Amino acid sequence: MNTPAIETFDLTRTFDELVAVDKISLKIEQGELFGLLGPNGAGKTTLINMLSTMIPPSNGRAEVWGIDVRANPSRVRQNIGVVFQGTTLDDKLTGRENLDLHGRLYGLSKNLRKQRINEVLELVELDDKAEILVKTYSGGMMRRLEIARGLMHHPRVLFLDEPTLGLDPQTRNHIWDYIRRLNRDENVTIMLTTHYMEEADQLCERIAIIDHGSIKALDTPENLKNALGGDVVGLGTENESQASVLSDLYNKNGSAGNVHYKDSNVLITIQDGTHQIPHLLKLAAEADITILSVDLHRPTLDDVFLSHTGRDIRVEETSDVDRITYKLQGRRR
Ligand SMILES: Nc1ncnc2c1ncn2[C@@H]1O[C@H](COP(=O)(O)OP(=O)(O)O)[C@@H](O)[C@H]1O
Ligand SMILES: [Mg+2]
Repeated sequence: MNTPAIETFDLTRTFDELVAVDKISLKIEQGELFGLLGPNGAGKTTLINMLSTMIPPSNGRAEVWGIDVRANPSRVRQNIGVVFQGTTLDDKLTGRENLDLHGRLYGLSKNLRKQRINEVLELVELDDKAEILVKTYSGGMMRRLEIARGLMHHPRVLFLDEPTLGLDPQTRNHIWDYIRRLNRDENVTIMLTTHYMEEADQLCERIAIIDHGSIKALDTPENLKNALGGDVVGLGTENESQASVLSDLYNKNGSAGNVHYKDSNVLITIQDGTHQIPHLLKLAAEADITILSVDLHRPTLDDVFLSHTGRDIRVEETSDVDRITYKLQGRRR
């Protein structure tokens, strides 16, 4: 049996009264591409900060490559690379200079630095931009350079905190390619955080859904979706109070599996959705509730999140992107 890349045992972190990470136990095997998916404030960054020895746990413990983060932080640091949320590059230096600086901090010899810089630049396809000042880079280029920097010292485990935050969808897709490639070609175990459903779904082999500091579900995206069972029927009503009444009705009626409502929509997870729709509509009609739209789909991670937390992760997504994009623009002005 290989040592797990990461293992935590009731790992907990509090800030005064607030429990940011609440007794998290998980095990990530060597070579995995693992995602922590959760909304803002779920505790993702705090968890990564503990695993990367930036802050100590309040309770419980964690091991990275078999090394205890509290007992041996410097040994842990030699084994990991970290790409933090928000850029930490020096934009008055060139891409190459930023990487060189990092290599020096890790005590790599001049020759080794030179060789490794070329390797990581090639990996993220920035070799032709290496001599340019970072302040002229696009957001996507900066993120790629940060990922390259995190890889300079050949870490076994790479932590990526919201690697595509604020990037446009096309750039995001590119970054996913790089992340997949380095997981495969550099054989580096990756733990990333995200609040983008799609990112977790498309990129990660396994994900932990995290909310209010604890893990609500952990599996492959496929299994998480399948575990909901059946199809999701979405019924659009006239307003939220109608949706609330209707979901109570379905819950009482008992025939529908998992019922939630969000704004004016009722979402029902149910076996054989196509054949259930007439019955669902009949119940609505009997209660004098007007149905404006009907939608049937296979469960998405959004449905999984909703079913485990009673909330929709998407609400947070838009505002966050706007905020970060604004921040990036402000920085570059
Ligand atoms: N240094 C800190 N001091 C006080 N509260 C903090 C600190 N860091 C994080 N928190 C709180 O802990 C919770 C989890 O935060 P965080 O780990 O940043 O979540 P996420 O990365 O999932 O958005 C939030 O409620 C946040 O406000
Ligand atoms: Mg965070």
